[in-house]
Amino acid sequence: MSDTTERNRYGRLCAEIYDLDKPVGSLFDGPYYQGRLKGLDGPVLEAACGSGRLTIPLLEAGVAMEGFDRSAEMLAICATNAAARGLDLRLVQAGFDDFDMGRAYAAIIVPASSFILIDDFEAGVAALARFRDHLAPGGQLLLDIPPMSFFEAEGRPRSWRAENGDLLTHESQIAVSDPIAQRRVNRDRYERWRDGRLVEAEIEFFAYRVWGVKELEMALASVGFGEVEVCGNYRTGRPPKTGDGILNFSARRA
Ligand SMILES: C[S@@+](CC[C@H](N)C(=O)[O-])C[C@H]1O[C@@H](n2cnc3c(N)ncnc32)[C@H](O)[C@@H]1O
Repeated sequence: MSDTTERNRYGRLCAEIYDLDKPVGSLFDGPYYQGRLKGLDGPVLEAACGSGRLTIPLLEAGVAMEGFDRSAEMLAICATNAAARGLDLRLVQAGFDDFDMGRAYAAIIVPASSFILIDDFEAGVAALARFRDHLAPGGQLLLDIPPMSFFEAEGRPRSWRAENGDLLTHESQIAVSDPIAQRRVNRDRYERWRDGRLVEAEIEFFAYRVWGVKELEMALASVGFGEVEVCGNYRTGRPPKTGDGILNFSARRA
């Protein structure tokens, strides 16, 4: 891959598989986010909202959600998922580096470790500043990252059966591993098989950068966030410990 190869594209097959693998309401983060956001006075933005997996249950629970995402394919699935439930949801196609929602939010959430898809330190800090600028004074940022051990994670081949019977497959290989930049790129191949024939294939390059706990605390403080707190595995108030699968940061715009 070259420096200009598009990364973290979430194209058609990848988006379809995301929605099959993690349908609306799946994973363990729903109660945590509902608990943290309930009773907030004002709208909430989900950065990189994807298929609406979490956006939609939060909207159904009465949180005034809006979302942005760079992938047109993920946003199309999100819009379909919302419409199927009769929900009206503002969605904007934009990236972490250029989103401009034109309003201030009571909270911004970045669930499912999407923040690590910003694979460069300075770009990550710039995104934190952009989050700050989209928060009302006193507004809250809630952001999840995996622990540093995620850098070593190995993918295993997986497959799914689509509703029309197609077999969808995914396998992943390490393309770049740079422990100094805390960055890795995986080359992921997605395939669609129908009646025993390969009918579609897609290559995606997934680039991510892992963060240390103190490093992210300092980055948040450096762009003007206060009250920075971290807990482990969605247990508010319980400091992170070895073995936690997810680290949950919260911070407040002064
Ligand atoms: C792991 S998914 C999370 C989706 C959703 N937030 C959830 O919790 O299920 C990551 C999302 O990040 C989006 N994404 C990747 N790079 C992005 C970027 N630079 N700017 C905005 N969105 C991006 C992808 O399109 C994808 O929808």
